Order: sequence, then structure tokens, then C-alpha cells
Amino acid sequence: MSGFEINMTTSGPRQAPLEVAPDTFVIRAITASTGGTWTNLNSMIIRAAEPVIVDTGMVTHRTAWFEDVFSLVPPHEVRWIFITHIDGDHAGNLVEALGRCANATVVTSRAESYRTSACLGIPLERMRMIEDGETFHVGDRALRAVRPPVYDSPYTRGLFDPSTRVYYSADAFCAPMPQSPVDWVDEIPPLLWAQGMARFQHIALCPWIALVDQTLFKAEVDRLASLDIGVIVGAHTPAIRGATVPQALQHLIALPRFRPD
Ligand SMILES: [Fe+2]
Ligand SMILES: [Fe+2]
Repeated sequence: MSGFEINMTTSGPRQAPLEVAPDTFVIRAITASTGGTWTNLNSMIIRAAEPVIVDTGMVTHRTAWFEDVFSLVPPHEVRWIFITHIDGDHAGNLVEALGRCANATVVTSRAESYRTSACLGIPLERMRMIEDGETFHVGDRALRAVRPPVYDSPYTRGLFDPSTRVYYSADAFCAPMPQSPVDWVDEIPPLLWAQGMARFQHIALCPWIALVDQTLFKAEVDRLASLDIGVIVGAHTPAIRGATVPQALQHLIALPRFRPD
């Protein structure tokens, strides 16, 4: 017992799951953020032959998160829970999800698996370790762990599905959600999106970006670009598709030179 009720007052309007590619859905929530903006708190479902949950949402949105997830995949069919990293906004419902999804195995990086075991009490027997560039098979496809160029935990791994060309980027590409929520970043005025994304990375996600070698950092973004991504799903951004994918990558490359006000 915590001795208090979970604060739900910062929740924004509810958004239904968004199908961004065949059998690939963003599970969405919105919460109040700095400066009167909203922030997305996304996770994802891949209805592969062996269904995959990618990140497990927030404690504050637990009821809605389970409703949305189980509207797409029954609990007993969930086979994998990929955790990008165990920040509370990405693993908020992990323990409960493992309890309700008896056939699920957690997949995360080696270092994060030990932290997950120590912090959340999840036995290593229910975890599988995966490193940057490695794949794991989910019945009808192989998913690849790919570290995003920017992150707030070096244990972070994104997830790329070559069959749909959807990349789940964890915290990378975070950007403010407008007061009237949208599904895709191409519904936001381009300059507003670009500036909001740059500010979010510099202030909230990776202040170290101002210290990096620009050439080395560009090579890291180019490594991601070489995947030929069709859709980027980030935990804290409307989804990114089409022409906004290369634009998002260019915005990342420019980050070391950007100086927030
Ligand atoms: Fe994080
Ligand atoms: Fe996050």
C-alpha cells in the first residue's frame, strides 16, 4: 500500500491506439508538460505470430493502457515484452503486465536486465538479453535492437521491424504535442515541430548533445538512416512518417549546433 492515490490530474485527452503499419499499433497517452504543452507517453504493440509489447506505459495511465493493449492482444497470447529501458515512463506497468501475461518473456539489454532484476524484482529466468544490432525471432519475423542516437540511459535499445520498416525509438525524437492533439508530426507546423524537438532533446533528453563531436554524431545518425525506416514511433512524439522521417533525421544531425534559449 502506498498510502496515497495515484495522481491522474495531469492526464490529457485520451487517444485510441493508432495503427501505423499492418498489425503495428501505437498505444497512446498524453500528460501535461512544461510550458503549458502536452507530452506523449507512447508504447507499441506488434501483432506478430508471437505478439510483442514494446514498453509498458505509465502508472498514471494503467487502466487505460491495459484496456488498449488487451483490446489488440489477449493476455495469454503476449509472448514478448521488449523494454527499451526501465525509466518509469517506459516500464511503469511492467511488473503488472508480467503478472497478467503468463507466457511473456522480457527482452532488454544485458545491463538493463540486471538493473530490472535488482530494481523491480523480476527473475532473470523471465528475461532475455539482447545487445545493440542483435535480433530476436517472433515467429514470422526477426526484430532488431538498435540503439537510438540520443537517449537518457545508455542501456536504451530501440527496436526495428524490417518487415514493416517501423522503428521504435524510445525517447529519441521527443517533441511537444500541440494543445489540440494530433496523430502525426506532419500535422504540426514544420518550424514549430523542429524547434520543439530540438529544445526537448537539449533540455529534457540529452543535454550532453552540445558536447559531442558533430562528425561522429552524424555517423551515428547515418547508421540509423541506413535502416531505410518508413515510420518512427517515439515514446514522446506523435508518429513520424513519409517525408518527415528524413527531416527528423536531419533535425537530429543539427542538434549539436542548436542552442536553446
Ligand atoms: Fe528515458
Ligand atoms: Fe521517456
